[in-house]
Amino acid sequence: MYRIGIGYDIHKLIEGRDLIIGGIKITYGKGLLGHSDADVLIHAIIDGLLGALSLDDIGTIFPDTDPKYKDADSTILLKKVYELIKEKGYSIVNIDSNIIAQAPKIMPYIPKMKEKLVKILEISHHDLSIKAKTKEKLDSVGQNLAIESQAVVLLRRD
Ligand code: CDP
Ligand code: ZN
Repeated sequence: MYRIGIGYDIHKLIEGRDLIIGGIKITYGKGLLGHSDADVLIHAIIDGLLGALSLDDIGTIFPDTDPKYKDADSTILLKKVYELIKEKGYSIVNIDSNIIAQAPKIMPYIPKMKEKLVKILEISHHDLSIKAKTKEKLDSVGQNLAIESQAVVLLRRD
């Protein structure tokens, strides 16, 4: 039994916050605004995992009105969601994802992101793809006001 899921997220880029994407701190003058650590890639992956099983979305499971999730480490939220997937008898076949940012350069950080996420998700490096893209200076992401991310996931139950 196979199930596919899609996830999307966007966060506003502001001064005075750390930039954390894929569980990795990126050296940059600005960071993403959010109730949690605003890890846009992990949030997209979480919503892909939840969507594949038609479960409630990330905002319903981890409400931003709950003080428990203030500045929450999104890798911990990812672990919780992966446990849920496993409880339902599923494993991850593969994940493909995009980080769309005008700046900074994301590519140098991708190996570290992959290393961190494959451990949490118990998959091999071959089964996680993370790609980076600019928005050619178009729209809010292109004007460097925000960073967005997309993920598709395939789950299998044997
Ligand atoms: O060349 P094309 O228009 O397809 O892509 P781009 O948006 O100009 O990005 C070129 C390359 O830069 C990407 O393939 C990524 O490897 C890298 N990139 C990055 O490291 N960090 C970003 N924020 C955007 C792109
Ligand atoms: Zn988010």
